[in-house]
Amino acid sequence: MDEQQPSGHEVSPPEEDKVVDVRAKKPVRRRTKDSSDAKPSVRLNDQKTQSQYEPYKEAAWGFINHWYPAVFSSELQEDQVEGVQICGIPIVLRRVDGQVYALKDRCVHRGVRMSAKPMCFNKETISCWYHGFTFNLKTGNLDTIVGNPDDKLIGTTGVTTYPVHEVCGIVFVFVREDEFPLEDVPPLRHDLPVMFPESSERFPHPLWPAAPHILHEDAIGLGIHRTGESNWRVACENGFDNAHILIHQDNMIVQSNNWVLPLGIRPVSNDCITTFEDDDGPTGLMQWLFSDRWEPILENKKLGISVNGVNGRMYRTSFYLPGVLLVENWPEEYIAQYEWYVPITDDTYEYWEVLVKRCATPEEVEQFKYRYRTVLEPMALNGFNDCDLYARESMQDFYGDGSGWDDEQLVDTDVSPITWRKLASRCNRGIAKPGVGVNGSVKASSLRLRDVSEGVPSRYFVRKVEF
Ligand code: FES
Ligand code: FE
Repeated sequence: MDEQQPSGHEVSPPEEDKVVDVRAKKPVRRRTKDSSDAKPSVRLNDQKTQSQYEPYKEAAWGFINHWYPAVFSSELQEDQVEGVQICGIPIVLRRVDGQVYALKDRCVHRGVRMSAKPMCFNKETISCWYHGFTFNLKTGNLDTIVGNPDDKLIGTTGVTTYPVHEVCGIVFVFVREDEFPLEDVPPLRHDLPVMFPESSERFPHPLWPAAPHILHEDAIGLGIHRTGESNWRVACENGFDNAHILIHQDNMIVQSNNWVLPLGIRPVSNDCITTFEDDDGPTGLMQWLFSDRWEPILENKKLGISVNGVNGRMYRTSFYLPGVLLVENWPEEYIAQYEWYVPITDDTYEYWEVLVKRCATPEEVEQFKYRYRTVLEPMALNGFNDCDLYARESMQDFYGDGSGWDDEQLVDTDVSPITWRKLASRCNRGIAKPGVGVNGSVKASSLRLRDVSEGVPSRYFVRKVEF
């Protein structure tokens, strides 16, 4: 379904946008507002608008029953075992004869993580290192217990398994609730960006070639992932935020290319964003950047500053459930940048940055790898995106306890996150429950823990920004 979104100038959302938490089968709870909220609001996120994305505000631990990247293929060699945590769920991965298996990484006996000390006696199972409970890799069933092979619990219980799809050098896992039926698992492409050139008519742009897609057979994906210390939603919203161009003005990739960025980009049309909920494809939003639907801001008279002509790299961003960014034509022509913001806890996420290019020959692959190593990773994935990582972490203290979602005062350039929040509230496949028995389930701010581990004491003066 194509839906034209109102611009930031029209704060009244369409009637059909009413949101009901379908999981709970009842209208969602609305937070009590303070008296200042009772006044007419000029915030873009007035009470009525907020009511349309209440489920999103509840999704601190992420959206479950979706596909997420778990590891790069190179991080899981033959017979290797690794443990990850996604949406508060511990997951153990093992590769056997090339095939990757994923199971819940919580032994049913006493709850330890099997991945903490991998123990595998054959190609079919993984055993818990503590008392030897042994689980079938394909079914998750408790097949035997190392030192108690006749116990009557054997064959009656097990751990949840997770479907795996490995493509373009990335191992994706469908992170599901225990009761989510395996026969209802959608294909990976439903949780990935739209494909080009198949979508070029629907989302035309004359300024750049069709973006490569990780499902293209000749696509090569090169990238990194690292842990960000903020909530995953704060990270997502930074990814496609058109108003934060300011933080990138001084970046090496900008200055070394002699790019001149505008002061900002402002929506000037009701159809600046198109949302779509495809029956047989992804759910997402397309931002019509570098078209007449968005206006670059070149001057601020009040501050007496201006930009003399804009000369930058043209790009376009689109965003998809469960939290996938596509940047077309970035950081160079014929390359697409993918980003995932994979919830680990409610205050940490795994930040995936992957550059994708179609390479027809082994020589092109080598050229892309060389360019990636010498220029693109240091200048785009690190230099440029380091600023974004810092900005997200800077928001965490405000959003960390949940009150920021009520207290923020959004403006018309924030039409993008608001559109995303409504879409995500309508179309997610489930809201993850808070993690139990895993990192982050017992509260302590990871930012403060990092300060402590680095020997940085609590301080009176604010720490200066460096990037
Ligand atoms: Fe795993 Fe006891 S905790 S076998
Ligand atoms: Fe940015």
